[in-house]
Amino acid sequence: MLCQPSAGSLTMQAPAKLNLFLRVVRRRSDGFHDLETVMTAVNLFDTLTFEPNASSEIQLRVLMAGTRNQSSRPAAPIPTGADNLVIRAAQLLKDHAGISAGVRITLIKRIPSAAGMGGGSSDAAATLAGLNRFWRLSRTQGELMDLAAQLGSDIGFFLGASSTAVCRGRGELIEPLRFPTSLYFVVARPHSGLSTPAVFKQCTPGVSARGVDEFVHSLKQQGLGHTVRLLLNDLQGPAERLNDEVRQLREHFSKLPVLGHQMTGSGTSYFGICASLQQARVIAARLRAVGVPWVQVASSCS
Ligand code: C5P
Repeated sequence: MLCQPSAGSLTMQAPAKLNLFLRVVRRRSDGFHDLETVMTAVNLFDTLTFEPNASSEIQLRVLMAGTRNQSSRPAAPIPTGADNLVIRAAQLLKDHAGISAGVRITLIKRIPSAAGMGGGSSDAAATLAGLNRFWRLSRTQGELMDLAAQLGSDIGFFLGASSTAVCRGRGELIEPLRFPTSLYFVVARPHSGLSTPAVFKQCTPGVSARGVDEFVHSLKQQGLGHTVRLLLNDLQGPAERLNDEVRQLREHFSKLPVLGHQMTGSGTSYFGICASLQQARVIAARLRAVGVPWVQVASSCS
């Protein structure tokens, strides 16, 4: 997460994530699922700006960033009220600190929603970290992590210092993962999105035998060429059954010269791993040419 203070305001850049590995281990009694996942933050960002508010209200304005030749239409309207994760994060921190201050928040959305790229979670993490600084609260990283876990499973990953991590439990048990090279991606999203609970409901836990340790060992020791054979997302089958556009993306990617490809998170976004940034740009152009509505080149954050 990048933080840029300026006179009276504070701006945060909130990155998207991709799941390089996602195994659904078991269904839990609280309705969640235990996971083993490797997440990496990539250089596609939402931007949040925090400005003083004369009143004690938390106000949110959401602007959709349109990019050249790309659809910026959200799959579902983004809520700006109390059910938006940014408002919920700000309110939770405000209540926790027991302060009366308000804030005006502007959120510029570039990360597609309902796409498995963690945009809402990253915005919530940027809100906790940003307002902790903007309101001069000096809450510890541990306290912010506790608040993050109350808001959602992925939010702690975005608060953490490591841009790649193995996440277990519901996703909130985070172990930083360092490896030497940058990864280059082409990321595509179809017209429609998917609801995360609906995809989890369709999934049969515990079917994949391969665990995350083998994937991590390969990433550290055996290089990308070997590791791409171990890509896994247990939510992809269920997502394809719910949304034919995911299956169509898989078919497009299987005809392209990428090193490996799969869906991220609970979908519907899909990514290919490329040998270089240049190759990713060529592949992105091919996907746009066949009518995929949102295609971006990205690299792993350092
Ligand atoms: O925690 P988060 O709000 O991101 O989760 C959204 C939904 O996804 C949950 O309500 C649950 O249905 C599902 N989920 C799950 N197991 C996880 C994470 C999410 O079943 N580990």
